[in-house]
Amino acid sequence: MEIKKVGVLGCGLMGSGIAQVGAMAGFDVTVLEVEQKFLDQGFAGMEKSLAKFAERPPEKGGITAQQKDEIRGRLKGTTSKSDLADCDIVIEAIIENVEEKKKMYASIDGMVKKDAIFASNTSSISITELLTATKRPERFIGLHFFNPVPLMKLVEVVRTIATADDVYQTAYGFAKKLGKVPVRTSDKTGFIVNRLLVPYLLDAIRAYEEGVGSMEDIDNAMRLGCGYPMGPFTLLDFVGLDTTYYITHVMYDEFKERRFASPPLLKRLVMAGWYGRKSGRGFYDYSDPEKPRPNRL
Ligand SMILES: NC(=O)c1ccc[n+]([C@@H]2O[C@H](COP(=O)([O-])OP(=O)(O)OC[C@H]3O[C@@H](n4cnc5c(N)ncnc54)[C@H](O)[C@@H]3O)[C@@H](O)[C@H]2O)c1
Repeated sequence: MEIKKVGVLGCGLMGSGIAQVGAMAGFDVTVLEVEQKFLDQGFAGMEKSLAKFAERPPEKGGITAQQKDEIRGRLKGTTSKSDLADCDIVIEAIIENVEEKKKMYASIDGMVKKDAIFASNTSSISITELLTATKRPERFIGLHFFNPVPLMKLVEVVRTIATADDVYQTAYGFAKKLGKVPVRTSDKTGFIVNRLLVPYLLDAIRAYEEGVGSMEDIDNAMRLGCGYPMGPFTLLDFVGLDTTYYITHVMYDEFKERRFASPPLLKRLVMAGWYGRKSGRGFYDYSDPEKPRPNRL
């Protein structure tokens, strides 16, 4: 099966990024939102990102002004589900809520052509649970992109026990056509990256709680000792402590292992509304965003 037309559900942080890379790779892309104002926001974000690509030289992935216009021409926003009818693949990136996602899939299942592939970009919800909302279980997969989508190369291609081989191969090849590096994984909560990353981040918090080192020293140790681009507390504040806290619940629920459980300090920060960079404080204080200072916790 050849993919020509791509549908994207949701034009938020991830949906707009997925739509943009689709159009940059030459696909016609239709993005669905609940209201025009969310489309406007998402398209403004894409415009900004494309402008940055246009400033780069071609050998560094840059695009010409003409290419930028062509990419824009391939992108269409809509608030009408019927515009997705002739898509070959529909990638869902709406809010991380299982009921909302299932409602969405059920509502478009009869509308979108029968052999189209349905994909979800969910970070934590079971792909198998989502496919139960449709009559196309064998044509359903996970395509887990990373933020910011236009820059991050990885896509986890998630297979369920119901996924047909040819659907999986098509989706894997599609990720490659987007210029990404796909990895194969199965429908276990957290897939590969969060399965390994989340316990590491939670362990960093536990190490701090136990007095192993200060936040700054733990961050510096992992940066300089392991060559990581940023330490665990800096990364936690980037990801969002509310998001991480939510993921700990889903993962703990799945595996019932302490390594996936939230340490008390993470819970306290979330209860206090200290979500990290996005709320101005988390493990660090961002009053001066250029010079974050560790909070006394
Ligand atoms: N943010 C990340 O770093 C990240 C990384 C990988 C995967 N994800 C996953 O991607 C998905 C989206 O996350 P996000 O960060 O882009 O969220 P977001 O809040 O930025 O965007 C979600 C968008 O979906 C729209 N939406 C909600 N209900 C809708 C509906 N019924 N129809 C159409 N649009 C609808 C909202 O208006 C919003 O614009 C989630 O499943 C999340 O787990 C997020």
